[in-house]
Amino acid sequence: MVTPFTSEIEPFPRVDYSSHPAYVSTGAHWCLDDDRVARDVAEIDAAFRDLVIQADCVTEGEEARFNEAVGSRIDELQAYVLGAGGLTGRIAEYSVRAMRMARQALLDEWKFHIRSHRFRYRPVLTAAQHMKLEILKKDGVVCLEPGQELASRLWDKTWWERGLLRQQAARLPWGRCAMALDPHSPAGLLIQTALERSGVFELAGAYLGCRMEFLYAALDHAHEQQAWYKGCYVDVGMGTSATAYMHLDADCDIVKAMLYLTDVKAENGAFRFVRGSHRWVRSPFLIALYKGFDCEQDTYFGRAPNRLDYEGGYYRPRFQAASHRQELMCLPSSFRGSTHFGDDVIDGSPLSKRLLAAEDVFTGCGGTFVLFHGAAGIHRGSQVSAGERWAIQIALRASGEQSQRPHRYVKERLARLRYHIRRLKRTLLLTSEAT
Ligand SMILES: [Fe+2]
Repeated sequence: MVTPFTSEIEPFPRVDYSSHPAYVSTGAHWCLDDDRVARDVAEIDAAFRDLVIQADCVTEGEEARFNEAVGSRIDELQAYVLGAGGLTGRIAEYSVRAMRMARQALLDEWKFHIRSHRFRYRPVLTAAQHMKLEILKKDGVVCLEPGQELASRLWDKTWWERGLLRQQAARLPWGRCAMALDPHSPAGLLIQTALERSGVFELAGAYLGCRMEFLYAALDHAHEQQAWYKGCYVDVGMGTSATAYMHLDADCDIVKAMLYLTDVKAENGAFRFVRGSHRWVRSPFLIALYKGFDCEQDTYFGRAPNRLDYEGGYYRPRFQAASHRQELMCLPSSFRGSTHFGDDVIDGSPLSKRLLAAEDVFTGCGGTFVLFHGAAGIHRGSQVSAGERWAIQIALRASGEQSQRPHRYVKERLARLRYHIRRLKRTLLLTSEAT
């Protein structure tokens, strides 16, 4: 099982927005006491870590214990941040939303730890799997047995989905181009069968200490016309950062995998992972808060027609919009951040050099299969400078069940039938639109 708060030499990256060229001139100033906020955050983190240590002896009242130890401290911090002389207007409302999400995320993580202690999962691994597990623990990422034949079969079985994504790329060339594969589609079924045979559930389960289940598989088409991650600070004359799109997913119970369907060179949007970054010391509260701010930006910015991007084109609009930049600087300094922080790292800075030096680039032929702890480790991909990349991103989630669910044959057959009816309807619709 992963020890979540193991002390490591490296601290998790923190961008200093007060010295960032796009923020120094915003003219905003904050009136909150940074030291007071930092002390409160440290107390929340300490209380949360204490709770996690006690997760093995909790039998009831888990939410009440969380509220008493952690929730009450978050309430106190919120009262200070929004109290007399504190935040007002839109950024106050935004902060309340983000803090609510952070509180829920920590509660979910606490429940996850309790569950993993209650249903302790210790699969029997082969010697080869043990070696992979050790690499995964150390680096946060590991290459699994390549599946060239699997990639070739998936390529054939995704002909329909690839057609839809090609159309999407033509309609919105700058946008992201990905779709969830229906679990009952030919490709979705093939992936699930292949994953079960590969032993990846056992490996990921041994890593997280929980039985794992399939969550989703998404087909991703990355190509050189995409620009959703470019130009955040073009208005102040800054180019796209060399570390752009470096991020972590911050979802505690998920382990991800990447399967290339085509040969991928560095310039084709190769997957990249900052080796060992999953163990870097961080504040659980602040990471949860940053994710809260990231998710809640949907309240203020409209989505593009593909629902994956924002209307303005750039994927973190709150960092691009001048008024939001100004409001970011009204926050206590520790609240300024994002799970997707790479775009804000200044090229040539010590932080940029440190991140790039530790970043592994996963090139390889179709069938290259990489398992990674994206919830905690810094990673990125799909940024194509030449050519294209077809890949499937797979997410495995810690299961709430102690044992595997029984296979329900009739239910599965009906679900497959429903999938093919939906596909037929969509094909007919597209045909009638084209004629
Ligand atoms: Fe990610």
